[in-house]
Amino acid sequence: MDSIPANRRLWNRISDAYQHEHDPQIGAAPRLWGMYSIPDAQLNALGDVTGKRVLELGCGAGQWSRALAAEGANVVGLDLSEAQLAAAAGAMGAARYPLVQAAAEQLPFAANSFDLVFCDFGGLSWAAPHLAVPQAARVLGRGGRLVFNVASPWFEACYDEAAGRVTTTLRQDYFGLNTIAEGDGATSYQLTYGDWVKVLRGAGLVIDDLVEPRPEPATLNGYNETDPPDWAHRWPAELLWVTHKP
Ligand SMILES: C[S@@+](CC[C@H](N)C(=O)[O-])C[C@H]1O[C@@H](n2cnc3c(N)ncnc32)[C@H](O)[C@@H]1O
Repeated sequence: MDSIPANRRLWNRISDAYQHEHDPQIGAAPRLWGMYSIPDAQLNALGDVTGKRVLELGCGAGQWSRALAAEGANVVGLDLSEAQLAAAAGAMGAARYPLVQAAAEQLPFAANSFDLVFCDFGGLSWAAPHLAVPQAARVLGRGGRLVFNVASPWFEACYDEAAGRVTTTLRQDYFGLNTIAEGDGATSYQLTYGDWVKVLRGAGLVIDDLVEPRPEPATLNGYNETDPPDWAHRWPAELLWVTHKP
């Protein structure tokens, strides 16, 4: 909860530069997951969204929300940062969808408002999962799905702060990851595999799949340098959880 104001300030400050650098990759085509832009058609995580009530938690400039609205979903894009929401508003396509400013830890929606809640390095990377996952579960209807992509603990544990890249040497304790300081109180969150299972099951969700996106060796990572360059072809860089509310 303490990270909400600091995360808002961080994303307001970096939004322009972030979109300048990453929007061409994120928005290059509809439904691209994560740091390696792997198509959902390959990972089969999201399914058909036509006519579904969909919430994107931490939508940023709305590249995903825009694509799903164009497919006929009733999308709401939620984000903490007004600068990110302004980017989403500016990039909205012909299929309009509402944007809401709020924290994933405090969702301003009634129970049973959505059929799908999802994010890609969004609210479940930047909000405390023990608060945000129960909120996501609350706003889902029965049979509704929570699908989200986050960095893997392998990737974070092998991040070499001094060199500014991910290597093959363990640097951070696996059990000590938990929160990652992003400067001036801003925080991102990183759970162990066991803690993700506990948090998801504790919120009453059923885990249907844990997809481990695996890029081809030459695929560019637009965010982090890795050594070797094909790191993510050899070890899992991301966790794509697929769950539902029974
Ligand atoms: C890496 S972006 C994810 C959006 C998009 N998928 C992308 O890759 O750019 C992270 C987003 O999470 C938002 N965010 C940070 N903390 C949040 C919170 N507590 N609740 C909701 N959104 C948050 C940020 O403002 C930012 O837009």
